Amino acid sequence: MVLLDGKKTSNEIKEELAVEVAKIKADGGKIPHLAAIIVGSNGASITYVNAKVKACEKVGFGSSLIQMPVETTQEELLAKINELNNDMVVDGFIVQLPLPDHIDEETVLNAVSPNKDVDGFHPANFGKVALGLPSFIPATPNGILELLKRYKVETEGKHCVVVGRSNIVGLPMSILMGQKKYPGNCTVTLTHSRTKNLTEIIKTAEILIVALGRPEFITGDMVKDGVTVIDVGITRVADETKKSGFRLLGDVHFESVAPKSDFITPVPGGVGPMTIASLMQNTLKAIDMNR
Ligand code: GUN
Repeated sequence: MVLLDGKKTSNEIKEELAVEVAKIKADGGKIPHLAAIIVGSNGASITYVNAKVKACEKVGFGSSLIQMPVETTQEELLAKINELNNDMVVDGFIVQLPLPDHIDEETVLNAVSPNKDVDGFHPANFGKVALGLPSFIPATPNGILELLKRYKVETEGKHCVVVGRSNIVGLPMSILMGQKKYPGNCTVTLTHSRTKNLTEIIKTAEILIVALGRPEFITGDMVKDGVTVIDVGITRVADETKKSGFRLLGDVHFESVAPKSDFITPVPGGVGPMTIASLMQNTLKAIDMNR
């Protein structure tokens, strides 16, 4: 069993990006700048956004954190997005999800300029990704591809089962793993809450990507020997023994699944840190998109 170490790999990527930034600086070029908008005070969202800003500092990017109160109107948020779309300093920006209920997510994501949409959530960018054209690949799918690549996991001709069909992870992941390139070239099954015989399908997976949000849903008896397991789940469960009052659980019961796996991501320290590294990669890419 090989652990797909997202923490180590994301640090390597950030070091590579820091070298790129140093080159840009030496050449007198534009230093990449990421802005993040957060509306409200969701604890997990604040943690994620702070981690993104910290990563910018580490690689030498500029960053702005725009915190808006929970009662912000949709119009006010759209005005802020418009401002960032036209701000020459900002190369890419994200609107942290989820948004408060009174704000329509689709309207907001559509308002972000596709050239600055480093999350890859705009329909134009999703369409390009689906067609295999150059675009911003969303951070989580891109982080997973990067892990598979850097650990040289064989994917060609394999049966990849994706569990969960979210726009952010499951759906793009299922498309990417079927594309004619590496990592990819898989035969893909996209499963979801209405899938019949889910456990039988999971048992046939050679590559299993789980993005369900149900802690420890996948157990050792559900997978076949030699599987590669990518656990996207990250759920906070109460734990009084921790200083934070919670611990993080993946969608995979690691203790029973790991012994049957060839490769497996831990939680935490697997996919999570990779998403941040991917966002940094996309921000560097945004420099070219805007020139
Ligand atoms: N919420 C959970 N994941 C993400 C992400 O990748 N980007 C944004 N903007 N919000 C999220």
